[in-house]
Amino acid sequence: MSSTIDSILVEHRVFSPSAKAVAGATVAGMESYKALCAEAEQDFNGFWTRMANEHLVWRKPFTKVLDESEAPFYTWFDDGELNVSENCLDVHLTNGNADKTALIFEADDGSVDKVTYRQLHARVCRIANGIKSLGYKKGDRAIIYLPMSIEAIACMQACARLGVIHSVVFGGFSAKSLHQRIVDVGAKLVITADAQLRGGRAIALKSAVDEALADEGGDIVQHVIVYKRAGSEVNWSGSRDVWLHELEDGQPDSCEAVAVEAEHPLFILYTSGSTGKPKGVQHASAGYLLWASLTTKWVFDVRPDDIFWCTADVGWVTGHSYIAYGTLAAGLTQIIFEGIPTYPHAGRFWEMIQRHKVSIFYTAPTAIRSLIKAAQADPDTHPQRYDLSSLRLLGSVGEPINPEAWIWYYQNVGQGRCPIVDTWWQTETGGHILSPLPGATPLKPGSCTLPLPGIITGVVDEAGNDVPQGRGGFLVIKRPWPAMIRTVWGDEERYKSSYFPTDLKGYYLAGDNAQRDADGYYWIMGRTDDVLSVSGHRLGGTEIESALVAHEKVAEAAVVGRPDATTGEAIVAFIMLKDPVPDGVQADALAKELRDWVAKEVGAIAKPRDIRFGNNLPKTRSGKILRRLLRVVAEGKEVTQDVSTLENPDVLKQFTGVY
Ligand code: PRX
Repeated sequence: MSSTIDSILVEHRVFSPSAKAVAGATVAGMESYKALCAEAEQDFNGFWTRMANEHLVWRKPFTKVLDESEAPFYTWFDDGELNVSENCLDVHLTNGNADKTALIFEADDGSVDKVTYRQLHARVCRIANGIKSLGYKKGDRAIIYLPMSIEAIACMQACARLGVIHSVVFGGFSAKSLHQRIVDVGAKLVITADAQLRGGRAIALKSAVDEALADEGGDIVQHVIVYKRAGSEVNWSGSRDVWLHELEDGQPDSCEAVAVEAEHPLFILYTSGSTGKPKGVQHASAGYLLWASLTTKWVFDVRPDDIFWCTADVGWVTGHSYIAYGTLAAGLTQIIFEGIPTYPHAGRFWEMIQRHKVSIFYTAPTAIRSLIKAAQADPDTHPQRYDLSSLRLLGSVGEPINPEAWIWYYQNVGQGRCPIVDTWWQTETGGHILSPLPGATPLKPGSCTLPLPGIITGVVDEAGNDVPQGRGGFLVIKRPWPAMIRTVWGDEERYKSSYFPTDLKGYYLAGDNAQRDADGYYWIMGRTDDVLSVSGHRLGGTEIESALVAHEKVAEAAVVGRPDATTGEAIVAFIMLKDPVPDGVQADALAKELRDWVAKEVGAIAKPRDIRFGNNLPKTRSGKILRRLLRVVAEGKEVTQDVSTLENPDVLKQFTGVY
């Protein structure tokens, strides 16, 4: 990351909001932003009470706001009741949005399907009635393993309508990862598709579910609902498997939404941590939805005729907060895209913005960087070849955006007219934490600027003390916020030790390094742990290491990230084999075998880019692998650091071949 950080730190340009961006903005001007922050600081509970009453519809009003008595197990609006799906759909049946388009689905092959809020509501109700008819109810867990589709969103909403807790698993994860999540969450229901279509190819999903359920413990699943997407052949278990269309058929278009307590878990989403298996991040209903919809309105400065496109997949938190929940609660018209940015050509995103007159476009730096490269290679895919005049606002999420990519995005996609909101947040935060407001915050390319109103952040040292401006430290959130993670599913100790280490004054530890500049702006400098960010996807180095070590030929493995101009980081695996180190064709073949193995154990997204073989790994005398040295080797640089702590300094010389 050092080259990124260097270029970030020399970036001084500031882009103030235009008069047009300020006019009519939800938060207009820095004074309005500061007034909201001051309101929250002066009367924290009063501020959140006002927000929760103005932005949510309650079945039973709350009297309590933040309860800190069991910290760090905080609760919000604890005695209130509501239903999330009712807040996302039913509200629009009576506020003039009923016949407004809710979702515009563009398939991999370019065909388009649209649903209005009224139609989406009816669809969700039919699916919810179907799920109910199978016997599922509030508190049951369902795994959703679906491609990007209207159905994926409808199934998430249908679960929320019944109080069934969903856990969406990204389609790029393997049967093994799916199995791990099914067992950990104790799912009785799985919702999947026969296959997903991406880049003109059908990739099977149902067969991965079959494989996952055949593994030990998979028999807790009683039903698998299957959406027929690709028309692919599937194996069928008559007592367990149900077609989605048959389940929905004949069900009524209405379904009473189940009122749940504010703290009832809405979903569990697995994410990679610094150690061991993925963590099931548990989110509550009311606080989560409040923040997802409030940040949608503030950060995207929503206007009634906006066409919003978030390119994330519903398998990640971005697809939860800004496709399935916050954006629906805010009544937006959204694009749902099944395919990939480079099929049938790398101008697909720009062509879609032109076709659907997208006004707000929210994507990841990786996508931008790869499309810059594509546009250089083939000018026909350059955004300037398309009519992007409908765009009003751009967004970035998932990883630091380097100033060069920011400027390209600003000039070529936004045509110098559209503010860029660089939003910093995490699966655990539920919604944006650090972000500009387009009608208020002056922008600095590469900085996610300032905390949102009601959010109290800081950069601290190991003892939780604020570090001086310009000095790096741990990014923390000092006060609880409504959309925060409630616990790690089934593992309260892990929740406490991962996010609230004892020396940190009770602050939430994000796991990122950051620093603030003279204006108080935040600059994110990467993770403090061995979590990798590959194409904006969060992957655990240790998870990939355990997968590699499980292979019969591998004795030990260390996985590190190497800076990559397109994907942010590339995975580099250092492998100590049980047998002598191969070279040439044999090494190539073994590297392929190990990549395929990781794809099977974790998922194709976790395949190492580079594999390096050796007879040993660099370790301290106490046996700790020195990953910081491996990072230097991975970058192809010479190790100039002090290696005196190494048991055998010569060990670094062996990793010459890259496979
Ligand atoms: O390191 C930060 C990076 O992504 C991590 C969170 O990953 P995940 O839980 O998968 O959520 C991604 C989508 C919200 C953070 O700890 N990250 C996220 N957004 C940014 C970022 N790094 C820099 N700038 C951002 N805007």
